[in-house]
Amino acid sequence: MIIRSAEFVKSAVKPEHYPPEDMPEIAFVGRSNVGKSSLINTLVNRKSLVKTSSTPGRTQLINFFNINDSFMFVDLPGYGYARVPQSVTKTWGTMIETYLSTRRTLRGVVMLMDIRREPGKDEDDLIAWFSSYGIPSICVLTKADKFSNQQRIANHARCARSLGVDPSTLIPFSAKTRLGKEKVLGAIEPWTERI
Ligand code: GTP
Ligand code: MG
Repeated sequence: MIIRSAEFVKSAVKPEHYPPEDMPEIAFVGRSNVGKSSLINTLVNRKSLVKTSSTPGRTQLINFFNINDSFMFVDLPGYGYARVPQSVTKTWGTMIETYLSTRRTLRGVVMLMDIRREPGKDEDDLIAWFSSYGIPSICVLTKADKFSNQQRIANHARCARSLGVDPSTLIPFSAKTRLGKEKVLGAIEPWTERI
């Protein structure tokens, strides 16, 4: 798949503020700081289409990006950032859940996990939740450059075991080296076809 253009459309919190449902959408979810915004920038070959930050919790709104004038990437706020007050965590959860459960043009979700971290209950719950809503999903293991090849292979297998999925369904990825970029594009391509 070739990305020819990528432009920011708008930020939204509530469904009233989402753009019209006229293009297929692919959403990116994962913990704060896992590398969602960096993954989107890598996929679209842009250094800073999406703001990234070393401070977790940077993306606090749902951000919509028009790709090739034919589908949308949706950068969701990160969850599980312990240093935000619980009231805020709750608002974030509701915002993400509302989007995922009501958006009719949502075609698939890219779920991100740090390859160095053992998947936890949040990840298990999200995957179970996607399948209960019938939302197709793939998993990307981010920051793979932090590991040697050997460590990467071992942790890839460990993540698959912990999630109870086949290793072939997890894609190791690095925004730094672009490892896995073509695989991710190939995996999401079927979701970009016109509705
Ligand atoms: P929130 O918006 O806060 O939820 O974070 P995010 O998931 O969008 O993460 P973001 O892309 O902003 O990246 C967080 C930090 O991790 C930044 O300092 C990035 O430079 C770094 N980072 C992201 N991806 C990679 C990667 O593949 N390799 C390395 N080494 N660092 C990465
Ligand atoms: Mg972000």
